[in-house]
Amino acid sequence: FGRPWIFIRGVPSLEFLPPEGPLEVAFAGRSNVGKSSLINALVGHKGLARTSNTPGRTQELNYFVPEGYSGAGGDLPPMALVDMPGYGYAKAPKETVDAWTKLVFDYLRGRATLKRVYVLIDSRHGIKKNDEDVLDLLDKAAVSYQIVLTKTDKIKEAGVPRLLSETAEKIRKRPAAFPQLIATSSEKGKGLDELRQAILDTIS
Ligand code: GTP
Ligand code: MG
Repeated sequence: FGRPWIFIRGVPSLEFLPPEGPLEVAFAGRSNVGKSSLINALVGHKGLARTSNTPGRTQELNYFVPEGYSGAGGDLPPMALVDMPGYGYAKAPKETVDAWTKLVFDYLRGRATLKRVYVLIDSRHGIKKNDEDVLDLLDKAAVSYQIVLTKTDKIKEAGVPRLLSETAEKIRKRPAAFPQLIATSSEKGKGLDELRQAILDTIS
């Protein structure tokens, strides 16, 4: 990850997807869970993916790649990180929410080069019904996913191990779930090395 990453494309609907090429790692989760912040923290570039206090910030599938990623002999394998619109944001107009949800679900279901989905769960809230729906879809489509707890700086440090084990128990019987969970804080830089390594292991 130790090189500049660049934004290459925003995809408002599936016909604008780039041709399948580099392996893709996508970040999914409820609105405001911290997807864009986590991508920025991973690549060490605060303003790369746009973040906001207001849910519904990210409205397209946004593709990020390491600079020069398609060139031979790079230090990173060809890959793209895909930031996604959040689901479960009740305040946006219904048609908008429906369009984002359709985009996210269709992409997750049908992308051959999608290697792993990181499903982000807010440490304060745990897995909700709409998260379960996404996990069901990924299980059904046999798309590998791994749970990442976000914003662990917002809960007591002593509560993190228990949250991890409770969440692990909830996904234990899910066929496409990677059993290991990662606890992160983009704010405090926690869990980032672990997540970077997991991503590299997945795509190499
Ligand atoms: P949408 O694009 O709207 O779906 O949201 P998102 O999941 O991309 O969330 P985003 O990264 O925009 O972050 C939402 C809010 O949470 C922002 O105000 C962030 O500053 C805050 N946030 C993100 N990560 C952390 C974290 O690790 N700790 C704390 N305390 N706040 C965080
Ligand atoms: Mg976002």
